[in-house]
Amino acid sequence: MAQGLIGTVGHSKNFDIDAPSLRKASPVIDLFPTRIICRRANCTPSRILLICTLSLAACSGPQSSLDPAGHAAEEIAEIFWWMTAGGIFIWIAVIALTVYAVRTPPESHSQRRTSYLIIGGGAVIPTVVLTVLLIYGLAPIPRLLAPAPEGSLKVFVSGEQWWWRIRYEMPQGETVVLANEIRLAVGEPVEFRLDSPDVIHSFWIPSLGGKIDMIPGRVTRLALTPTKTGVFRGACAEYCGTSHALMNFDVVVHEKEDFARWLAHQQTPALPSSAPGAARGEELFLANGCGACHMVRGTPANGVVGPDLTHIGSRLSIGAGTLPNEVEALVRWIGRTEHTKPGVLMPHFGMLPEEELRAMAVYLKGLK
Ligand code: CUA
Repeated sequence: MAQGLIGTVGHSKNFDIDAPSLRKASPVIDLFPTRIICRRANCTPSRILLICTLSLAACSGPQSSLDPAGHAAEEIAEIFWWMTAGGIFIWIAVIALTVYAVRTPPESHSQRRTSYLIIGGGAVIPTVVLTVLLIYGLAPIPRLLAPAPEGSLKVFVSGEQWWWRIRYEMPQGETVVLANEIRLAVGEPVEFRLDSPDVIHSFWIPSLGGKIDMIPGRVTRLALTPTKTGVFRGACAEYCGTSHALMNFDVVVHEKEDFARWLAHQQTPALPSSAPGAARGEELFLANGCGACHMVRGTPANGVVGPDLTHIGSRLSIGAGTLPNEVEALVRWIGRTEHTKPGVLMPHFGMLPEEELRAMAVYLKGLK
């Protein structure tokens, strides 16, 4: 799973690759690419079969809309498969007719029969098929856009550059704030209320349902119901700036009791960690001004510009799904933020000695 969570780490490496060296390394990006690629890759039937199998393997996983774990995603996947089946059927019919037309001598059909074939095959059948597919594709939209039932859990998500501010609102009015991680109860509908302070993002949890834009000055809504427990991955689906591809989040779907326990824990302030060096890490965290941007409830750190770090140690990843939540990764993040997430607003603290960075990382990892 850790591998899945740190999947985007590879993106940061892309910044080191320049186009000329890529071309030099892969001369197949040239004229007649398909022919050259095929010749060099030695496309045998077994290799083509292997590629197809690997492509199908991508249909599952924590971020696949074809491996649904929610009501809306199930409906969308069903539409996809019917549309795909329809597309394959039409493709086969067109190819069969083309082969027939090439092999049949023109004089074997009368002018009248040919006209019927052209009008029928070129206008009537496509109109009927496309109308049926359009109606079938549009019919579920009212259900997919329907609000969650009255009394459902409300989660407010704000798309920041480039992370997610998450706020749970309880029925009694209390709130819980966290970042880059959403936890839900299986079978329980949830209403997301989405906005953004500056640029347009798009909120998407492919395993649970469709995507919806987060627009500055507006609140958009999305109701989802998870049907399976597990860890899924959400992403920003609208280009929003330099680190758009490094803006992800984890979605954990629990059994109801576990979810209630987690939510109750998130409401509590941070507990001091007993890990060696954590106390010194807290001193350094406060002395270096981290509390001006970050909140750690129960400590003097009360900033609201950056992500709330009260229980950061319990999250699955850091840097909005960019790195695994480990001490080493926290050291890298604090010391080299810009290298990990280009364009990030958080300044790097690489001027601090390694030992101090490590103490802060241990402190943060201890905030369970
Ligand atoms: Cu936020 Cu793309």
